[in-house]
Amino acid sequence: MSILITGGAGYIGSHTCVELLNAGYDIIVLDNFSNSSPESLNRVKELTDRDFKVYEVDLLDREKVELVFEENHIDAVIHFAGLKAVGESVSIPIYYYQNNITGTLVLLDIMKKYHVKNIVFSSSATVYGTHAKVPLVEDEILGATNPYGSTKLMIEQILKDVFIADSSWSIALLRYFNPIGAHVSGKIGEDPKGIPNNLMPYVTQVAAGKLDRLSVFGSDYPTHDGTGVRDYIHVMDLAIGHIKALEKVMNGTGVEAYNLGTGVGYSVLDLINAFEQATNIKIPYHITDRRPGDIATCYASPMKAKKELGWEAKKDINDMCRDAWNWQSNNPNGYKKEEIITI
Ligand code: NAD
Ligand code: UFG
Repeated sequence: MSILITGGAGYIGSHTCVELLNAGYDIIVLDNFSNSSPESLNRVKELTDRDFKVYEVDLLDREKVELVFEENHIDAVIHFAGLKAVGESVSIPIYYYQNNITGTLVLLDIMKKYHVKNIVFSSSATVYGTHAKVPLVEDEILGATNPYGSTKLMIEQILKDVFIADSSWSIALLRYFNPIGAHVSGKIGEDPKGIPNNLMPYVTQVAAGKLDRLSVFGSDYPTHDGTGVRDYIHVMDLAIGHIKALEKVMNGTGVEAYNLGTGVGYSVLDLINAFEQATNIKIPYHITDRRPGDIATCYASPMKAKKELGWEAKKDINDMCRDAWNWQSNNPNGYKKEEIITI
């Protein structure tokens, strides 16, 4: 079976490519490398000893996307491609809507033309409204608080409408919680551009001595230690979730949302402690003001994915911290080659 992976060079995409190849799927990757490097895909090939086609194509470039469908037999699409930085989406909303929404519309229109009606979409826990109750269940009230979140919510709605119009589509909306960690080999991992926005890459860069100390955003939340609580999930568990969703999508029709989380919440201080224990490295931190837009607590009910996809997260917080550090320490500059100074 042949699967098109949009955004396959990115963090979650590259780990999912490894799992798909190891499970015997053929893959074709489409990415414009706006937030990734082709080197991640070289590493995927090394790790799996499998080859696959890589198209450097922007989803907004309709002609080129169409060429990918013309040149390949495609059974299903896993659609990771999108911009994902919440703060940036507030500053440059038009760019976010254009890239994420228009990119998805181009993809869906071409899928329809080529009778490819199976899709797994990267949604996010961010689609749950701020007043939703934890643990979050899939039919909780939805809402968005920033343009990035709005794009996820809108794409979910677009996909629901696509199914209403044509019930031969088969669609999984995967709502990821907080993916962290890396492949156990330390060959692939998260490679943020510039100073990381997210907690774990910030922590690993402090551990590596690239950043001085961590700012803990707020200690007055109504949580067990006052810091924000999230449902961290190992990226390899997430990757396996995509295989399970793909199996479901290939064996029926419909449109369903699934939470991919562990169901367990850890605070910022819990995560720092777990990291220190897993690595024996002290993380200097200080408490600062809350980050605007952050909520106190967010964790999943993963029961629907367990029941309907036969999936549940297996790795714990210690695995997540160990693997994140293994990736960071083996790749201090991410996928960038060491800079050589010539004189
Ligand atoms: P990432 O930025 O590492 O990967 C996204 C990939 O899409 C990148 O390789 C980028 O170059 C590519 N891309 C972006 N726009 C494109 C376009 N127009 N055409 C072709 N390629 C394009 O991000 P990730 O963490 O791997 O996330 C994957 C998906 O999961 C995204 O849709 C993201 O919004 C979603 N998601 C991520 C998280 C998270 O915390 N990482 C949480 C929830 C949802
Ligand atoms: N945090 C800090 N210091 C930092 C970074 C984060 O204290 O330097 C705290 C945050 O306040 C929050 C927790 O660590 O309490 C996690 O923050 P992240 O930025 O790692 O993750 P978020 O939960 O804010 O957001 C992530 C993704 C979003 C996605 C959301 C839900 O970045 O894109 O999960 O899936 F929408």
